[in-house]
Amino acid sequence: MPLLEPEVLRCVERLEREGADHDAGEPERRLKRLNLERPAAELVHLLLRATRRRRVLEIGTSNGLSTIWIQAALRATGGALTSVDREDAKLQEARQNLRACGLLEGATLLLGDATEIVRGLAGPFDAVFFDADRVSAPAQLELLLPRLEPDALLLSDNVLSHPAEVAAYLAACERLPGFASTVVPVGKGLHVAHRRSEGHGAGSLRAAPRPPSPGSA
Ligand SMILES: C[S@@+](CC[C@H](N)C(=O)[O-])C[C@H]1O[C@@H](n2cnc3c(N)ncnc32)[C@H](O)[C@@H]1O
Repeated sequence: MPLLEPEVLRCVERLEREGADHDAGEPERRLKRLNLERPAAELVHLLLRATRRRRVLEIGTSNGLSTIWIQAALRATGGALTSVDREDAKLQEARQNLRACGLLEGATLLLGDATEIVRGLAGPFDAVFFDADRVSAPAQLELLLPRLEPDALLLSDNVLSHPAEVAAYLAACERLPGFASTVVPVGKGLHVAHRRSEGHGAGSLRAAPRPPSPGSA
């Protein structure tokens, strides 16, 4: 069964072609679209959908290709997305592309420096996808920590393509209590970290009591 509905898939295929052509002819990195590769986008989509994420933050919208994959997952879960980029023209394209795919509803696109924007976001978020400049991700992660749901899912692209730039983010994730993580070698390398809600002490972070095991009565 395909991951996307036919009309969304057609939209994605068009954007993939346009993005590849655009980036091949655009010498300035800032103006490139740098879209997520299909296998990584599919994995992000599946992870968000399979784990029923409902409040997602994307850092690095570009023209909205990954945003479309995320929104397609959130359409299934009834969730909402906030996505941030500092390039106004890209954000406007993202809005048009989401609209063309029928996926604009439920998406809040915010213009500005991601760290400054994140500072002002109330959250809470149950998933964050980091796909911006990489070096500012540790600062954003620190700001986001109090605004993450107990079982937060953190996704970050480029961990195999830009190991030096993501090193501080990966080290910050390693230090976070309760998070288990892995690197999936799809696209440019997707880091996936998940906070297990058990073992976090108080309140809603406590693991639910286990049912008695068979024969233990
Ligand atoms: C790799 S592209 C994102 C690609 C997009 N996620 C996709 O797959 O279609 C990175 C984007 O992050 C934006 N960006 C980089 N650093 C940023 C920052 N500090 N604050 C906000 N946006 C940033 C860039 O303008 C660029 O559009």
